[in-house]
Amino acid sequence: MDSEFSERNTFSETNPVKIGIIGAGAVSDYHHVPGIGIDPRAHLEIVCDASAELLKQRRSDWPVARTTTDYKEVCADPAVDAVIIATPNFTHAEIALEAAKNGKHVMCEKPLGLSAAEVRQMYHALRDAKVVHMTAFTYRFAPAMRYLKHLLDAGALGQPRHFRSQRFLDLPETSWGWRQYKKTAGAGDLYDMTIHRIDFALDLFGPLKSICGSVARFASRTQTATGESCAPSEVDDWSSLIGEFASGAVGVWEGTTLAKGYHRNGFGHEWAEVNGSEGSAVYRLHQPNVILLGKSGQDLAPVNVPAEFLKPEGSWRDPAEGEPATVFRYDLVWEFVSAIVEGRAAAPSFYDGLQAQVVADAVLQSHEERVWIDIPAEPR
Ligand SMILES: NC(=O)c1ccc[n+]([C@@H]2O[C@H](COP(=O)([O-])OP(=O)(O)OC[C@H]3O[C@@H](n4cnc5c(N)ncnc54)[C@H](O)[C@@H]3O)[C@@H](O)[C@H]2O)c1
Repeated sequence: MDSEFSERNTFSETNPVKIGIIGAGAVSDYHHVPGIGIDPRAHLEIVCDASAELLKQRRSDWPVARTTTDYKEVCADPAVDAVIIATPNFTHAEIALEAAKNGKHVMCEKPLGLSAAEVRQMYHALRDAKVVHMTAFTYRFAPAMRYLKHLLDAGALGQPRHFRSQRFLDLPETSWGWRQYKKTAGAGDLYDMTIHRIDFALDLFGPLKSICGSVARFASRTQTATGESCAPSEVDDWSSLIGEFASGAVGVWEGTTLAKGYHRNGFGHEWAEVNGSEGSAVYRLHQPNVILLGKSGQDLAPVNVPAEFLKPEGSWRDPAEGEPATVFRYDLVWEFVSAIVEGRAAAPSFYDGLQAQVVADAVLQSHEERVWIDIPAEPR
C-alpha cells in the first residue's frame, strides 16, 4: 500500500468496492456500468442523475435499486467507497470537491473541468484527501496503444522523433446539447476529442515544452435532432496543435467531429503515429488489436498485438469477446478498482488530467493571441 493513500478498507470479491455513479447518461451506459458488471471486486451501489425520468429507466436497464437526484447524498453516503463522475463538464469540479471532502475515491470523466485553474484545485483536493483519483482517458487502454507504448519504451522504434494524431468523426450538425456552450462544456472538439490525444502523446513522449494551436467552428447547430430551435454553438468543431516536447521530439494533432465520409460505423477515423529513428508504429481505433509497423525501406504493415497487450494483466475481460473498439473501454473501471484494492495510484490520474488540460487551454490561448505558448512544468 502506497503511503500517499489512506488505508480504510480491505476489499475483495466478498467485500467489493461500492461505487456510486453520478451522471447516468451515455458514457456511464457504454463504459462504466459494463465495466462494473464484469468486475467481481466492484458493486454498483447507487446511481445519481439530475433527471428522475432517466433514473426510472436506469433502474430497469442497470442492476441497481438505489437512485437519487442529489450528488451530495452519494458523496456523503457511508455505503459508498468510490464515485464515478460522468456528468456534463461544468459540474465535475463541484462534485469532485464534494467527494474529496467526504474521502471518496474518484474517477472523473474528461475533461476534468472547464479550465486548468479549476482542475488544479480538484487535483489538489483529491491528492490531499489521500484517495485514489483517476481521469477517464479511455484510449490509453486500447490494446494497440498499450503495445505501441511498450515498443517505444523498449527502444524498438529507436529515438522518438515525431508524433501524429488524427481524429475525424462524421457526426450530425444538429445541436450538441450542453456540449456546444462555453459555460457548460468549456470547448468543443478540443475538450471532447483532442484532449484524449494530448493525453496519450504526453504518456508516450513526456511533457510538452511549447505549443501553437488553432480551432474553428463550422456549424451553427441551431436545431436539435428532433427539429426544435436552440441557441447557436459557441465552441469549436475542429481543433489542432503543433508542439515541441521537452525531449526535443515534435508532434502534430488534428481533430474534427464534422468530417464527411469518415463515419466508419460510428467509430470514425483515428490514427496515432510514432516515428522514431529506427521505425514507425501506428495505432488505429477501428482495429485496436492490430498495429501498423514499419522500418526504413519497408512499407507500414499490420502486426497483431501480442496476447499480453490485449488487456492489462488481471483484467476480467475476455479479449475475444465483443466489439474490439468498444470492449477495451471496460478496463477503465478495472484500473480504478485495482488501484483502490491495491492501495496504489491510478493511471491516468488527476495529475495527468491536469497536464492535458493545461495543454488544451494553451491551444485556446494560442488561437486567441496568435502566438506560441510555453507550457510550464506542473508541480505534483
Ligand atoms: N472517456 C470518454 O471516452 C468519454 C466518452 C463520452 C463522454 N465522456 C465525458 O463524460 C461526461 C458525460 O458525457 P455523456 O456523453 O455521458 O453525457 P450525457 O449528456 O449523455 O449524460 C450526462 C448526464 O448527467 C446528468 N447530469 C447533469 N447534471 C447533473 C448533476 N448536477 N448531477 C447529476 N447528474 C447530472 C444529465 O441529466 C445526464 O443524464 C462528459 O464529461 C463527457 O466529456 C467521455
